[in-house]
Amino acid sequence: MATERTFSIIKPDATRRNLTGAITAKLEEAGLRVVASKRIQMSREQAEGFYGVHRERPFFNDLVTFMISGPVVVQVLEGDNAVARNREVMGATNPANADAGTIRKEFAESIEANSVHGSDSLENAKIEIDFFFKPEEIVG
Ligand code: CMP
Repeated sequence: MATERTFSIIKPDATRRNLTGAITAKLEEAGLRVVASKRIQMSREQAEGFYGVHRERPFFNDLVTFMISGPVVVQVLEGDNAVARNREVMGATNPANADAGTIRKEFAESIEANSVHGSDSLENAKIEIDFFFKPEEIVG
């Protein structure tokens, strides 16, 4: 199995409810190692840039407003098949469709306030990691 890096965000609904540790524990239990982590307040420009691929979607403005409504924790996760492993432990985007035991099933409030973001491919993981982290901030 290939060691990969993926990108994760613990979203404002989760930081607000003091779930940073509980979510990180789920990631670690899934075999992922946190090799970079910082708690930040995203600016509107940053959120719009990060979610630029969704710019034309009807939920774009609400999504950006939600993502800047409080602090987030951005993380780089490392492990075997980290991209797929992280998506597995996150569960479906809509918590109503998420499997038991996943982060979104346990913690998410709605499709928007769904507690975590995770990269959907290795290619996007690299782009998303580079968006928030300098190479020297990642210590594996
Ligand atoms: P995320 O993985 O952060 O990527 C885009 C986000 O848009 C997604 O998680 C959801 O939280 C949010 N979102 C809000 N409404 C929708 C929707 N109708 N379909 C898909 N994603 C949505």
